[in-house]
Amino acid sequence: MNILVIGRNGQVAQALQHALGTLGRLHILGSDQLDLAYPERIAEQVRAIAPDLIINAAAHTAVDQAENEPELAFAINATAPGIFAEEAARLGVPLIHYSTDYVFDGSKTGPYTEDDTPNPLGVYGHSKLAGEQAIAAVGGQHLILRTSWVYSTHGRNFLLTMQRLLQEKPELRIVADQIGAPTWAGTIADSTRQLIERWQAGQAGAWGVYHLTAQGETSWFGFAQAIGEQLKAQGKLCANLLPIPSSEYPTPARRPLNSRLDCSRLQREWNVSQPDWHQALIDCLK
Ligand SMILES: NC(=O)c1ccc[n+]([C@@H]2O[C@H](COP(=O)([O-])OP(=O)(O)OC[C@H]3O[C@@H](n4cnc5c(N)ncnc54)[C@H](OP(=O)(O)O)[C@@H]3O)[C@@H](O)[C@H]2O)c1
Repeated sequence: MNILVIGRNGQVAQALQHALGTLGRLHILGSDQLDLAYPERIAEQVRAIAPDLIINAAAHTAVDQAENEPELAFAINATAPGIFAEEAARLGVPLIHYSTDYVFDGSKTGPYTEDDTPNPLGVYGHSKLAGEQAIAAVGGQHLILRTSWVYSTHGRNFLLTMQRLLQEKPELRIVADQIGAPTWAGTIADSTRQLIERWQAGQAGAWGVYHLTAQGETSWFGFAQAIGEQLKAQGKLCANLLPIPSSEYPTPARRPLNSRLDCSRLQREWNVSQPDWHQALIDCLK
């Protein structure tokens, strides 16, 4: 099987390269070969590879920066995924694409299901939602996997930033009123591999939008505490942590207070489930 993965250096892209190698031949396209800021170049590249499966792990993920460059965010997050969907449909192959908890405004009391109505708070969320809609409009075989709070031992993310700051600073103030599930890129890649295996084995569930995060929930403050515990267990320095509300940490883009995603549909339809976020953090650090 020829698998086209869009994204080379990203957190999920790297984890996919690690997890999918045994499933087939991976064709990796990084931004140096295919710049999604110019979506008109996509079709030619996809046709040259003629993959059996397309996985789009690339995105404009700089949430605050997106507020100042909406056209670029929409080209990468909305127009490009729509063209991947068109090319996948033309070839008659599935497209796996990742989306985000930021399509929601966070005002719901409980976890969001796939049936809840999106209402993004910022440009990034709007552009990702437009990408979902562009893929759905094509109507081919697709999985849109909404995840949240992605981290890995690679790239730019909360885990690596905290590991550094917790050892450098005496005290850190961390937002405690945004609730969600930190999700290891390795978990996303592992679940993606299982989905592909189900499809290959003729056990595919319905195509469409699914929520895919680690199980359980915490705040950024709770996530930082857990990272600190791991540092202390290794005998390393760890800053004192203070919980603060989002109002004391203003950012250009507003974030949803409730990022919890209900992942039970993925379990029901595809028999794929994820570990608890705390266990996944320990596995990642191993
Ligand atoms: N990070 C999060 O907390 C989070 C939360 C929820 C959902 N998600 C979603 O999960 C998916 C993966 O995110 P991630 O955390 O792995 O992202 P990431 O680490 O920020 O990596 C971004 C990827 O996008 C590629 N990319 C960026 N601009 C590009 C351009 N102009 N042309 C081509 N490729 C470009 C990068 O290319 P190179 O490989 O060339 O560097 C890289 O592979 C995305 O769909 C994202 O929206 C992420």
